[in-house]
Amino acid sequence: MKEKEFIVGLDIGTTKICAMIGKRDDDKIKIIGTGLTPSNGLRKGIIIDLKSTSDSIERVVEKAEAASGVEVTKIFTGIAGGHIKGLNSQGIIEISKSSREITKKDVERVIKSASTVAMPTDREVIHTIPREFIIDNQDGVDDPVGMSASQLKVRVYIITGAVASAQNIIKSINKAGFEVEDVVLGPLASGEAVLSAEEKRRGVLLVDMGGGTTDMIIFRGGAVCHSEVLAIGGNHVTNDIAVGLRIQFDKAEELKKAHGCALPSLLRRDEFFEHPHRGRLPSSLLCEIIGPRIEELLTIVKRESEGSSSYRSMSEEVVLTGGASLLMGLPEMAEQIFKLPVRIGVPNKKIMGLENIGDGPIYATAVGLLHYGLSSRRKEKAAKFGGRNLFSKVALRMKEWIDEYF
Ligand SMILES: Nc1ncnc2c1ncn2[C@@H]1O[C@H](COP(=O)(O)OP(=O)(O)OP(=O)(O)O)[C@@H](O)[C@H]1O
Ligand SMILES: [Mg+2]
Repeated sequence: MKEKEFIVGLDIGTTKICAMIGKRDDDKIKIIGTGLTPSNGLRKGIIIDLKSTSDSIERVVEKAEAASGVEVTKIFTGIAGGHIKGLNSQGIIEISKSSREITKKDVERVIKSASTVAMPTDREVIHTIPREFIIDNQDGVDDPVGMSASQLKVRVYIITGAVASAQNIIKSINKAGFEVEDVVLGPLASGEAVLSAEEKRRGVLLVDMGGGTTDMIIFRGGAVCHSEVLAIGGNHVTNDIAVGLRIQFDKAEELKKAHGCALPSLLRRDEFFEHPHRGRLPSSLLCEIIGPRIEELLTIVKRESEGSSSYRSMSEEVVLTGGASLLMGLPEMAEQIFKLPVRIGVPNKKIMGLENIGDGPIYATAVGLLHYGLSSRRKEKAAKFGGRNLFSKVALRMKEWIDEYF
């Protein structure tokens, strides 16, 4: 199979690294190979051990290659971590007096002017997402091309990250012998996999709860209007159990998955678990450790999202995804905290071949990268992306967003 006929998504998570190879099948994506391995080189979503990460990447991609029978050279990957920041910005330009008609070039120009924000040199723009255009004070314009106006304004959402973190992702993939086709914000990718266009239009808060990070992103009117990456996740819960019960982390992880519950009201009276040294103990003991930590985490997510003006005006629904969302009682607790309908986001949107893989939410980012890759390829704009080339790639991606928008 030729390289351009398939897409590779690589999710470099804090607890696992997952490679997925997919190919287009009509309007769907068919997964033809996967590779999964525990991740040891990351902390809180950030690479801290390049060698271990690149070795794991090599292994998982080889596994996916063997399963699919294709040879991989280029990869779509995600970026997350507490260094990710989002901000709203706007740009404004005058339209040439001679025609007064807005062209695609004008749109590019106005988006470029909106993304020229003062930023420390150690940060980089990862995405510039147009939210709405305003022509001569008329807001809510979706497609200004061809319209007549003397002035064009755009509101954009800009996502930035630490250059060093982005470069370490690229380096670890390069060291494993592959090229990076694009770097995508993790929760943006997850959203591609688990949210419908209608949800994104109506307004939705997506919370991707991983092992080391909890990523949140708010969509409204079809576009991102807020995003945040919190450096807390399922590992903290496991840690609490390990400390609370004086057991090894691995044992705590096993107990959490098998008997953990966030809400005591969901436990049966006769539920027990086996403590390695103390014998049979009531599962309510685990619940007492887990419950407050999950409550704290969800309360922080709510507070952060309320801090954005977008949350107050949207508040339609909360979608939880990522491995930590699988904890029993977590969606119920989230409903109590957010006072909104909550559902678990499973990546089954227009995707085939996921049947053999359990625990869907864990694969939201990897599947989302395939969706993102496919639409990016459709524009045939994706290009070679090297570590020193971030800016040119950003410019290119901006063009992609513009194209996507129309
Ligand atoms: N059945 C389950 N019940 C409770 N927690 C679970 C379950 N399955 C997985 N988890 C938790 O999910 C977390 C891993 O989720 P995920 O694979 O989405 O994270 P990651 O992508 O590796 O990390 P991150 O996105 O934070 O970098 C771990 O903390 C794990 O304990
Ligand atoms: Mg993740």
